[in-house]
Amino acid sequence: MRTLITGASSGLGAEMARQFAAKGHELALVARRRERLAELRDSLPGARVLIQALDVDDHDAVFRAFADRAVQFGEGAIGGLDRVIVNAGIGKGAPVGTGRFDVNKQTITTNLLSALAQCEAAMQLFRARGRGHLVVVSSMSAVRGMPKAMTAYSASKAGIAAVAEGLRAELLGTPIKVTTLFPGYIRSEMNEQVAQRTPLMSSTEDGVRVMVRAIEKQVATAAVPAWPWRPLGVVLRHAPLGVIRRFA
Ligand SMILES: NC(=O)c1ccc[n+]([C@@H]2O[C@H](COP(=O)([O-])OP(=O)(O)OC[C@H]3O[C@@H](n4cnc5c(N)ncnc54)[C@H](OP(=O)(O)O)[C@@H]3O)[C@@H](O)[C@H]2O)c1
Repeated sequence: MRTLITGASSGLGAEMARQFAAKGHELALVARRRERLAELRDSLPGARVLIQALDVDDHDAVFRAFADRAVQFGEGAIGGLDRVIVNAGIGKGAPVGTGRFDVNKQTITTNLLSALAQCEAAMQLFRARGRGHLVVVSSMSAVRGMPKAMTAYSASKAGIAAVAEGLRAELLGTPIKVTTLFPGYIRSEMNEQVAQRTPLMSSTEDGVRVMVRAIEKQVATAAVPAWPWRPLGVVLRHAPLGVIRRFA
């Protein structure tokens, strides 16, 4: 199995790389911090691990990087990637209308527009090849529009989940599969501050183990970890705004 993971230099992406490498998967790991990718590669056992510095906000570079890694994996120009995990993301944001359009724009750019670029680049390879597995890392915060600093973030994650669902509907019954993961709180660099404040935080290893299991089963969607996030997702979906406004 040959898997490309974006945002593999820390957190969930790096841990997915460790867990897939332990299963003998061949990996292509991309992120901006190349030195972190090199350290990770050197710590992984066995199978081939390719690394490349890539800023996913450089959309032309995303298309080039995916196509090049596919060729490097060796099935000719139409590509040798079996799976692409669209994971790179940022957790920034500010209440809308408070003078920080720059931060909210950056969040929507990286988490939605650049994630769309990654889906486009991956799907181009998968369509040419007639098979493949696209995995999109959304968030539990996509379930509702979230207040204050999370508004743009939740919108970005809802947007990319909708892109994945549209593709899944289009490709139903074909050898191209699409999985959307909705993580709750899993310890990573992104949520170091939240980690002190919530008892709902999973360890990186445990949370990612659940993600990896869902990916390998090629499920359509999964709240990860399932407990407590699957039932909480249902509650969130139906909660009145008075409850939602406390998520800030
Ligand atoms: N941890 C959670 O509880 C949680 C919950 C819900 C959703 N998520 C989602 O899970 C994904 C992974 O996040 P994480 O929690 O593992 O956070 P993290 O430790 O901060 O990792 C984020 C990764 O994304 C990469 N990245 C960010 N901007 C990038 C860019 N412009 N180009 C290329 N790579 C970029 C970072 O690499 P470089 O800085 O080296 O580029 C890093 O490898 C994100 O999409 C996040 O929204 C996480």
